[in-house]
Amino acid sequence: LGRIALVACGTSWHAALVAKRWFEEIAGVPTEVDIASEFRYRNPIMGGDTLCIVISQSGETADTLEGLRRARASFVNALGFVNVEDSTIGRESDDAIPLLAGPEIGVASTKAYLAQLTNLYLFAVQLARAKHRLSETDAAGCIQGLRALPSALAACLERRDLAFDIAQRYASASNFIFLGRGYNVPTAMEAALKLKEISYIHATAYPAGEFKHGPIALIDPQTPTVALIPNDSTFSRMASNIEEIRARKGRIIAVTTDSAPNVEALSDSILRVPDIAEPLLPLLLIVPLQLFAYRIAVLRGCEVDMPRNLAKSVTVE
Ligand code: M6R
Repeated sequence: LGRIALVACGTSWHAALVAKRWFEEIAGVPTEVDIASEFRYRNPIMGGDTLCIVISQSGETADTLEGLRRARASFVNALGFVNVEDSTIGRESDDAIPLLAGPEIGVASTKAYLAQLTNLYLFAVQLARAKHRLSETDAAGCIQGLRALPSALAACLERRDLAFDIAQRYASASNFIFLGRGYNVPTAMEAALKLKEISYIHATAYPAGEFKHGPIALIDPQTPTVALIPNDSTFSRMASNIEEIRARKGRIIAVTTDSAPNVEALSDSILRVPDIAEPLLPLLLIVPLQLFAYRIAVLRGCEVDMPRNLAKSVTVE
């Protein structure tokens, strides 16, 4: 295996963005990520050593399905990560990995996203073992890290009242900004998508280092910024991004980990999750933000499970 091409839409695409880092950093496999509606109409360079991975909760998304067909027509092996195993993508892939999240009813993907991430992480670790990039001991350490997840997720749910209180404070805002670095960039994008979908509030997500190249002009006291600042390798750079926003009178909702120091001094509101290994942060930091979006949507009287203009599965182009 020389290369991986990841293809997906929406939330599944955000899972693919996280997986790219895992595949490259853990397994050492060069990986590209495409939005399916772009992939199917460009001429991607895919040789016989490329594996195309398509990710889809429903297994019926038209653009992702056509991306899969495109790859197979180029004689590239295709692996599907699907929640609905008996779906068109599940059937047409050379192999399929079932996500086993159980039926996902709400239009906004939440539990399927966590299941996508979990399965993609396991795949990255297994790939690294097969390529002898990870020793058995290190691979076992990665799996052990994953075992910390259920209790950490339970702690996030136990702390939901805090996310709900903060949601109450910000429910009338018309625009939100979400910032993160490294592993937390896709989380910022996914959190912004959740808020847009179910509360109809405009939200934009950026890699924090890119923010000063234009979008920082948006900052004013009415536009809150959700800053992902866990105690990881991005901490000090995120702290200086936050200072820049505060200097322009922007309000900060910090989403961080229990061990992160002095975040109170940097923020107006703070949400904490338990500490976990940096590569696993995407599985945890999204949860308080799902709860935050949910509560804002409820407070604004929105139909959370069936937002306007959306369908659970997008089977047309
Ligand atoms: O079923 P799929 O994972 O292929 O769906 C892809 C997107 O349509 C989907 O993730 C969409 O963005 C969700 N409504 C997000 O919550």
